[in-house]
Amino acid sequence: MAIPVIDFSKLNGKEKAQSLAQIANGCEEWGFFQLINHGIPEELLEKVKKVSTECYKLEREENFNNSKLVKLINELAEKKSSEKLEHVDWEDVFTLLDDNEWPLKTPGFRETMAEYRSEVKKLAEKVMEVMDENLGLPEGYIKKVLNGGESDNAFFGTKVSHYPPCPHPELVNGLRAHTDAGGIVLLFQDDKIGGLQMLKDGHWIDVQPVPNAIVINTGDQIEVLSNGRYKSCWHRVLSLSDGNRRSIASFYNPPLKATIYPAPKLVENENQQVDETYPKFVFGDYMSVYAEQKFLPKEPRFQAVRTL
Ligand SMILES: [Fe+2]
Repeated sequence: MAIPVIDFSKLNGKEKAQSLAQIANGCEEWGFFQLINHGIPEELLEKVKKVSTECYKLEREENFNNSKLVKLINELAEKKSSEKLEHVDWEDVFTLLDDNEWPLKTPGFRETMAEYRSEVKKLAEKVMEVMDENLGLPEGYIKKVLNGGESDNAFFGTKVSHYPPCPHPELVNGLRAHTDAGGIVLLFQDDKIGGLQMLKDGHWIDVQPVPNAIVINTGDQIEVLSNGRYKSCWHRVLSLSDGNRRSIASFYNPPLKATIYPAPKLVENENQQVDETYPKFVFGDYMSVYAEQKFLPKEPRFQAVRTL
């Protein structure tokens, strides 16, 4: 079984209906799908790969190799411990926002990543429009919710991660299993090195590398506003003994003050019991719960922010 790979360019042609249906299936049955011919220039993607790898080598690798985590793993292995570390991830990660500090030393990193973020944000908004159409919502509905009702107010970030070779992959995960908290995530993952898996029908399935594809997955807020039609999906990253997997995940989330609730059109009828639907809540409250419970079951998070 492989994650659906969908040609996004076909939305503009004769095969539009079929493409809409493929994306609906990706959202409803998988929560994960891959887009090819998505409109982000290949030349830019090649530069993103180059500057991210260079940035790791130049500005991150030494710190990672000297980190407490590396010492801890080696100590555990010396003790011949078979107990897996459950509170850490074998990951090097930093986040790019519009207004935070970015790596400074890697030539071309800032310009390339700024251009990439602008392109991937546009793609996110196109994907939202397709979801609006598939869900029967007014055009622009999801974008408006994820912007807190105001234009250009979304919380848009890009996590640049590397999963360096791990000497004892049996002792630690690359990234522990979780669902994503926010709206939608657009992932540009390594061309060759796998390790990302999603949970489908109780089985972990590899999110297979497809060169220059963008992997889409939906977060908890899309699950709420679609009233459970588009469920956020569990995923994890394995640690591997060789290869340094690159993973660049951009998230399009609501601002913390946004109010989130199921789209009224998607709530079956006015008499549907409140308990059967998702709650109405302020996204910042959800994030406070998520910060504590990211790696735990998601339903209690929805319950924790229910105020009705
Ligand atoms: Fe995630």
